[in-house]
Amino acid sequence: MDEHLLSSSYDPSEDPAEYSLRPRFLREFIGQARLKENLSLFIAAARGRDEPLDHVLLHGPPGLGKTSTAHIIANEMGVSMRGTSGPALEKAGDLVAILTNLEEGSVLFIDEIHRLNRMVEEILYPAMEDLEVDVVIGSGPAARSIKLPVPRFTLVAATTRVGLLSAPLRDRFGIPLNFDFYEADDLCKIVVRSAEILDAEIDPRGASEIARRSRGTPRVANRLLRRVRDYAQVRADGLITATVADEALKMLGVDQIGLDDADRRFLRTLIEKYDGGPAGVNALCATLNEEVDTIEDVYEPFLLKEGLIARTSRGRIATRAAYEHLAYPFPESRAAQQGLF
Ligand SMILES: Nc1ncnc2c1ncn2[C@@H]1O[C@H](COP(=O)(O)OP(=O)(O)OP(=O)(O)O)[C@@H](O)[C@H]1O
Ligand SMILES: [Mg+2]
Repeated sequence: MDEHLLSSSYDPSEDPAEYSLRPRFLREFIGQARLKENLSLFIAAARGRDEPLDHVLLHGPPGLGKTSTAHIIANEMGVSMRGTSGPALEKAGDLVAILTNLEEGSVLFIDEIHRLNRMVEEILYPAMEDLEVDVVIGSGPAARSIKLPVPRFTLVAATTRVGLLSAPLRDRFGIPLNFDFYEADDLCKIVVRSAEILDAEIDPRGASEIARRSRGTPRVANRLLRRVRDYAQVRADGLITATVADEALKMLGVDQIGLDDADRRFLRTLIEKYDGGPAGVNALCATLNEEVDTIEDVYEPFLLKEGLIARTSRGRIATRAAYEHLAYPFPESRAAQQGLF
């Protein structure tokens, strides 16, 4: 299997099933308790004043619910939403056209905001702050700049890489919200909810087995649920029990802590080819034949969170836990260096 089964960065529009599983209102959104509490308070306050919500920045690893939250904000505010993405906005004019045509009070969702180019980004500043855009007409000495009004709106932006945003852009968001990996309990509720929507039969232990092996990520939980459901239908009587889930996940190469073949290859490469590291991300990408973005967005956040790798100033290292998980002996020489692990 070539595809990284657990890859959480893929185009959801390829997958109509994902659409139907999206929570549409805050009450359907499971987990991220603090984020939800903050957001619901700010929404209530804005609605009370009959104003658009302040601009919102959603950041965190792929598949944790950023796009879903953008839709939820529009639904809870009772306004329409227009969606686009950083790479889709090539020219300043693309964004000007969108901004000046927004419906009063609506949500503009820009996904992958870290990939916005400079020219386009500069259009955003006065739009966000003063509800106007500067447009240059003509060129050379005859060029002049005119200001066009922008209706009141809420910018909801999402990024997996908040560190790549320029400070002036980051500072213009009144409501930054950070998504964390989900607790197993919450993921379990998500699996049960999704199973209901998909009309799949699952018992509580089956749900918790899938949840535990979903790398803290709802999108992964939903994908594994669909594959386990297929397995249950063909190899069992349709009911997803802990045993059925375990067999199906084994067949998919998803191990006890949720790593798949690609994650293990990453760790094995670091251990075998780089002696456990430190290895620079570019070197690792070349060896694994993967994009830097994939490594940094998809593989690393979870491996870091599980303490299987660590980042040092000289590159990535495999920790004792990684050696133990893959049943490699942990060299004692490293133990001294990595005292912490
Ligand atoms: N809190 C949640 N409750 C229930 N389901 C959720 C929740 N968060 C996410 N999901 C499910 O996970 C899927 C992926 O979520 P979403 O597309 O919002 O993630 P994302 O953060 O935008 O990912 P990316 O960074 O790849 O764009 C959704 O279709 C939805 O089914
Ligand atoms: Mg998204």
